[in-house]
Amino acid sequence: MIKSITTRIFGLVTILFLLPAFPFSTSLAQTALIQNIPKRAVLSLNGKWNYIIDPYETGYYDYRTKPFDESLKQQDRAFYTNTKPKDKTERIEYDFDKSPTLLVPRDWNSQEEKLLYYEGTIWYKKSFDFKTSAPGNRIFLYFGAVNYRADVYLNGKKLGFHKGGFTPFNFEVTGLVREKDNFLIIKVNNTRKADEVPTLNTDWWNYGGITRDVIVAETPATFISDYFVQLKKGSEDVLSGYVKLNGPARSGIEVVLSIAELKTHITVRTDTSGMAAIELAVRDLHRWSPQDPFLYDVKISTTVDEVTDRIGFRTIVTSGPEILLNGRPIFLRGISIHEENAIRGGRAYSREDAQMLLSWAKELGCNFVRLAHYPHNENMARLADEMGILVWEENPVYWTIQWSNPETFETAANQLKEMISRDKNRASVIVWSMANETPVTPERMTFLKNLADTARHIDNVRLISAALEQHGIPGNELVRTIEDPFAQYVDLVSFNEYIGWYDGLPDKCAKIEWKFDFNKPVFISEFGADALGGMHGDSLTRWSEEYQQYMYQETLKMIGKIPNLRGCSPWILVDFRSPRRVLPGIQDGWNRKGLISETGNRKKAFYTLKQFYETISKKY
Ligand code: GCU
Repeated sequence: MIKSITTRIFGLVTILFLLPAFPFSTSLAQTALIQNIPKRAVLSLNGKWNYIIDPYETGYYDYRTKPFDESLKQQDRAFYTNTKPKDKTERIEYDFDKSPTLLVPRDWNSQEEKLLYYEGTIWYKKSFDFKTSAPGNRIFLYFGAVNYRADVYLNGKKLGFHKGGFTPFNFEVTGLVREKDNFLIIKVNNTRKADEVPTLNTDWWNYGGITRDVIVAETPATFISDYFVQLKKGSEDVLSGYVKLNGPARSGIEVVLSIAELKTHITVRTDTSGMAAIELAVRDLHRWSPQDPFLYDVKISTTVDEVTDRIGFRTIVTSGPEILLNGRPIFLRGISIHEENAIRGGRAYSREDAQMLLSWAKELGCNFVRLAHYPHNENMARLADEMGILVWEENPVYWTIQWSNPETFETAANQLKEMISRDKNRASVIVWSMANETPVTPERMTFLKNLADTARHIDNVRLISAALEQHGIPGNELVRTIEDPFAQYVDLVSFNEYIGWYDGLPDKCAKIEWKFDFNKPVFISEFGADALGGMHGDSLTRWSEEYQQYMYQETLKMIGKIPNLRGCSPWILVDFRSPRRVLPGIQDGWNRKGLISETGNRKKAFYTLKQFYETISKKY
């Protein structure tokens, strides 16, 4: 009985999530994500913010753990009110303006030694003045990402909250923001929880904080809030998608989408919800590709608003074992990347960070990057558009998520929708990955299938995948296969394997036989071995560069035998921080599978993979 009720509730939650416009969200009062909102920035709130470390959440609960915002008489004790003593007798036990500062955007772990391992609440406060440029305009606060939960207060009023450490969110603050002395206070908590996404256990550092840009954006009363423009599924010369207006005068409005270099435009009229479909036949379309990453200036306008974006157009489909980019078979010469600037320390966030990471990938001979294990900052996809690098973006459904918890599904689906919403116009992005290395159970299957259905419902012109796990067949562990039922739902059958590192020594690679009976492209989303940069020994000395190089040599020979293999993204471009990696003198809190060390030195295996990609690139 209980189960059937649970199933029915879960089923209801699932159905609701298939409605992309359904305003489900894990916040109180977020505005639907505004497309390309950085273009509308009128004030950056990046820079120094005062902060208060609050492990007992003294600024939110009274000593009986009752939230202050439920007992108005004690509101001045709540940190988000930014209360100052009225006179010398008054007792206020916090003061942001006398507190130290942290930089935004940046994680807090890499800014202060005492915060390196900190997990809990930190309050941030930023004061600012703001003058609107025209009466009647609307004002929004935009956050590129905050890990993990953000409770947002402006001038003492709660705007809402957001959960998910790697996707953007925005709140409308029209009528609340004032010309002078605004104070924006964010309660940030990065505590890992079993029912969250990701869950308790990850092999990466739990960087907390306001890790990406914070801006104030301004729009007309009725503005272009969203648009999606890509080559129509199955078409070579029709652009399709939609534009959406937000505001009181959104219904029945003419919207013009124009592409000057194609000497073309289309005029559409919105429906009562402010939505209008687009379908535009084009001639002589200059396709986007890694060899020729051509981007068009697309302009969308109404009589009162205009937004431009640089958008590339290409097709990406699978046909049998082939991945076809603009109709031509490709091999994805990839590398996996965490969002970290290991040299500076901490989360990567800037265009310069993206430039460093993607230039290293290019140097390796890559035409593809797997942005693991969560949505990276927007600079990565936008720079990949410009540099001609194909991209795999991933939802942080990692390892042992709570598969039967409807709220966990809602959190995962919300982050997936925010990831797709932000990057759906990026030609470089060709794969949405639902998960990484998740255990095969019926509940996990339902969870992932519903995520895949949600993604396809929103965007049917990209490939769906997930990093699955391979295993030996019964009775012969040297014959490897994938029997994961989710493989039938993906376009790209991807899997991680660590033969030669976690599974035997490198010479085991030569004994392995691969057997897949999918008529789909196969992609190895991870293989790798640790090496401490600069540590040398013979090819069987664990942790040496020579061992890592030997493992790559043997793996690259092995993968040539994998039927339908059409790409790989070895683990990983750069050493990265992980609390799970504690071997003194070797790991010291770092996962050493990088082909580049945390000091930027290329290891021997870097050149082994580079050589392999040079050979492969001659065949495709
Ligand atoms: C797993 C996992 C990675 C992890 C890697 C490793 O495959 O996907 O997140 O870092 O193995 O063990 O180094």
